[in-house]
Amino acid sequence: MTNILITGGAGFIGSHVVRLFVNKYPNYNIFNLDSLTYAGNLENLRDIEDTDNYHFIKADIRDSQKMLSVFKENNIDGIIHLAAESHVDRSIENPTIFVETNVLGTVNLLNAARHHWNGKFDNKLFYHVSTDEVYGSLGETGFFLETTPYDPKSPYSSSKASSDHFVRAYENTYKMPVKISNCSNNYGSFQFPEKLIPLCINNIKNGKPLPIYGKGENIRDWLFVEDHATAIDEIFHNGKLGDTYNIGGLNEWTNIDLVKLLCNTCDELLGNEIGSSQKLITYVTDRAGHDMRYAIDASKLTSELNWKPSVNFEQGLKKTVEWYFNNTDWLENVTSGNYLKYYEKHYNNR
Ligand code: NAD
Ligand code: DAU
Repeated sequence: MTNILITGGAGFIGSHVVRLFVNKYPNYNIFNLDSLTYAGNLENLRDIEDTDNYHFIKADIRDSQKMLSVFKENNIDGIIHLAAESHVDRSIENPTIFVETNVLGTVNLLNAARHHWNGKFDNKLFYHVSTDEVYGSLGETGFFLETTPYDPKSPYSSSKASSDHFVRAYENTYKMPVKISNCSNNYGSFQFPEKLIPLCINNIKNGKPLPIYGKGENIRDWLFVEDHATAIDEIFHNGKLGDTYNIGGLNEWTNIDLVKLLCNTCDELLGNEIGSSQKLITYVTDRAGHDMRYAIDASKLTSELNWKPSVNFEQGLKKTVEWYFNNTDWLENVTSGNYLKYYEKHYNNR
């Protein structure tokens, strides 16, 4: 495969995957397709945007004709599909866009791949990036396995589960070569500050309240985003066709313990008395239908493909906080919407 389409490459995880592939595989042409919603930001890719093997395509996966022409014009061999509406709270406010982008958008891409490849599937791959939320919510014990039955509970996770089913249906019906991975919560640089960790870092920096839903007892399993990107690389190249891989770092935290650790990490880097930011913690109304616990069993990935995370949580969190503190312009731009102007200025002049 030489022409690789990465959708959602201007987003949080997608930008890390694009950077890894552009730098690691100079012989590949990497096409980053993104419609640049509020969550997509080309500033995330400034360091590689002038690299010869990188190409940006501004397009919307909801546009079926455009997806057909993107596959044809660029002779796409492989796709890593990350573009999605990704925020659970937004899916509770407006579920419809989640169906349009996550379900219909995925089906548009599957159709474009099917028509372009036209039954000749040698060295072709449709890799779909999904989430652990499709498995629903765990009690106090147990882990999500690749074989855990789907039981999505939010509009977001239902749309992702539906897209996973379509990917498997195209494999079964049209024999399309596919792979799927389901990952736990990511954290790291370039994450839009509406998600828990960057939101709290930004609020600690500005002395604003840290909103904890409910009692803060819900549990998430956190993975450093660069480790997600290396797992995607490993699965894309060496994973078995037709298989699903769970990705996670055996790193469960209640939200309240996580936010307290984050406060202490920020305090240390800001030179504040350790723990002083914890006074900003504010308990607020719980998320509707809030899943209690996610925990991934990633042993298939670690044993079959020899993948393992590169950092532990304390190291990853410190790197993350340092990145946000050192990139205040990025944070200010995304919170003020200035980055939309960057696209116009940079790309309309080319
Ligand atoms: P994100 O919201 O940061 O980025 C999504 C990207 O998709 C943005 O660049 C956005 O502009 C683009 N996009 C949205 N709608 C589009 C459309 N209609 N056409 C073209 N582009 C569009 O999301 P993220 O957190 O980076 O997640 C990326 C993928 O990984 C998603 O599929 C998500 O479900 C999955 N995932 C995320 C996490 C996590 O913790 N963030 C964990 C597991 C899986
Ligand atoms: O598990 C993987 C999923 O992780 C991905 O599929 C999603 O795209 C990604 O957004 C993330 O979903 P979560 O809902 O778990 O992430 P979020 O950062 O929104 O919330 C993490 C936890 O923190 C969750 O239990 C809700 C809680 N929370 C969140 C926010 C934004 C708060 O208590 N307060 C907040 O202000």
